[in-house]
Amino acid sequence: MRRVVLVGFMGAGKTSVGRALAAQLGWRFFDLDHEIVSRSGRSIRDWFSDPGESAFRREEGSVAQELLSEDEIVLATGGGWATERGRLSRLDASTLSIWLEVDAEESLRRVGRDVTERPLMSRDMGVQTARGLLESRRTAYALASLRVDTNGKSVEDVTSHIIEILELSVVKTEPQ
Ligand code: S3P
Repeated sequence: MRRVVLVGFMGAGKTSVGRALAAQLGWRFFDLDHEIVSRSGRSIRDWFSDPGESAFRREEGSVAQELLSEDEIVLATGGGWATERGRLSRLDASTLSIWLEVDAEESLRRVGRDVTERPLMSRDMGVQTARGLLESRRTAYALASLRVDTNGKSVEDVTSHIIEILELSVVKTEPQ
């Protein structure tokens, strides 16, 4: 296993867990949204308004592809990256994908008023709307190799749970 990619809905904790996980593994951390913004000099909100969401999705695809050619990295994707056709199923065997699962209520609670760079959310977004979007994405997220429930858990809890799973899988695959 040479890299980890974190997927899941907004507010799942991909960035915070990714950063903590990379620190524990001694690997580099990349946040896909951050990379797109710093490379293009354009905010996510601007991408969505002009040139538009489809252009943003294409950019997400090509920046992620480039980053995923690096070794010993943890990549936190944006909530929509994994929902584009083929993104998870085309990952190679040395890339471990992890779905950080969060329910709609907790997602809204965690994101709070921080919707500036989340054009698909609004400050008054209701649980039903968030739930609808999350449900429409569930089958795409479920293509990840691992699923970790983050509801009611801290970044530290989730990170140490992932580390435990990784250690167990190393022990299991080592020759006896
Ligand atoms: C999006 C999630 C955001 C960001 C953009 C679109 C989505 O990232 O990429 O606003 O489609 O779910 P986070 O999941 O980091 O909030």
